[in-house]
Amino acid sequence: MSSNENNNVLVVQPSRRIEGEIQMPGDKSISHRAVIFAGLADGTSRVTNFLPGEDCLCSLAAMQAFGASIELIDSTTLLVHGVAGKLRPALEPIDCGNSGTSMRLLSGVLAGQPFRSVLYGDRSLSSRPMKRIIDPLTQMGAEIAGQGPKGFAPLHITGKPLKGIEYNLPMASAQLKTCLLLAGLFANGTTSVTEPTQSRDHTERLFEHFHAPLNKEGRALRVRGGTTLHGRDLLVPGDFSSAAFWIVAAAAMSGSSLTLTRVGLNPTRTGLLSVLLRMGGQIRETIEDNAAEPYGTLQVVGRQLRGTHIGGEEIANVIDELPILAVAAALAEGETVISNAEELRVKETDRIAAMAANLRAFGVPVEEKPDGMIIQGGAPLNGAQVESFGDHRIAMSCAILALFSRGPSRITDTGCIATSYPTFVQDLEQLTDQTAMHLGAMVGSVVTMGRSNRARS
Ligand code: S3P
Repeated sequence: MSSNENNNVLVVQPSRRIEGEIQMPGDKSISHRAVIFAGLADGTSRVTNFLPGEDCLCSLAAMQAFGASIELIDSTTLLVHGVAGKLRPALEPIDCGNSGTSMRLLSGVLAGQPFRSVLYGDRSLSSRPMKRIIDPLTQMGAEIAGQGPKGFAPLHITGKPLKGIEYNLPMASAQLKTCLLLAGLFANGTTSVTEPTQSRDHTERLFEHFHAPLNKEGRALRVRGGTTLHGRDLLVPGDFSSAAFWIVAAAAMSGSSLTLTRVGLNPTRTGLLSVLLRMGGQIRETIEDNAAEPYGTLQVVGRQLRGTHIGGEEIANVIDELPILAVAAALAEGETVISNAEELRVKETDRIAAMAANLRAFGVPVEEKPDGMIIQGGAPLNGAQVESFGDHRIAMSCAILALFSRGPSRITDTGCIATSYPTFVQDLEQLTDQTAMHLGAMVGSVVTMGRSNRARS
């Protein structure tokens, strides 16, 4: 193993193949919703395979601060005793860390409570757009003060009696949709939200799971004020977005063979599979269970990929996978065009700028566009030194590209990986050349990193 000079630097060596069978940690989106919905519900819910990543722990701590009693049976099993819709004010401002999902979903819950709350986050979260939730929540009657014209965090929320509204979302956003549906639980009358294209539908599925199905008419989703969620056990499937790193690595590396078990296969999340199949990837999907959420097994075999176009309605279903799809594009023969992906500019970092800069550092020709990029695949890759820009998905995408490069690569500021995939480095060791690593050789070896040192604002 190579040495680690800085506890947030990840050094990745090239690998000859991705091989093995693995299970991903719990899904991040579903884990957030599990603690928030079960915390609001009446009765007790046992949540298994909860993701103990930093982001979801922020939602968990927040729900505890608002009165839910949450027992940690072990790091991934929770017993949530819900408050039956009756939250109490938190004693202190709520730290949402790096988590846009925590801040946006909790804002919806808090907008209609008879007390004041403050939500804050780290530097990245404090520069992400909150106006998209402030505007409709204000229309519902809430009082929310953000910073400056863009309404950045910290958010000061003075809960008020809310009234239901009909709202057309200006962009497909599951966070915004969920924020408004949660606020709708506490509003007078009916709240109706319509998305321009379908974003992930975990909220719709989990409202139904917690015995509070939404009324659906075309794209419009409606919730009646006063609707109660009822506690129920929930198994969180493995996170497809975490699996995506290994799916791309195995699909693009000839000689690889990978099996992912108990992975979430919700069709509003698995657009990456369709894209990879179009690129010539060899992937077999078997759905084994379809309780609250579908999950099953994926088998991936490596081969040469070819370039493709990714855009339009497909974007919402690959939104978190676009950084790793940019890596797939770099490894494919020919050109890949990514368009209609301007939302990427307001994620944990500007993911278009970050990936364009990092791909270039590895030797990939990239043209950056306002809403995406054009990537020329197949260029020889050299190990590079790149930064994560504090974004977990940029760090992990670059770690995968490093497996295909000549010589070692160094990725700096990788503590952010703990927000969504705390065991990423162990899994990298497991799936790459383990024997070589155990012998202390350089092939396939990685160095672990310390915890996040994200700047707090
Ligand atoms: C999420 C929705 C997505 C995604 C984020 C998690 C969610 O954001 O990027 O990582 O759990 O609802 P959008 O609000 O853009 O859909």
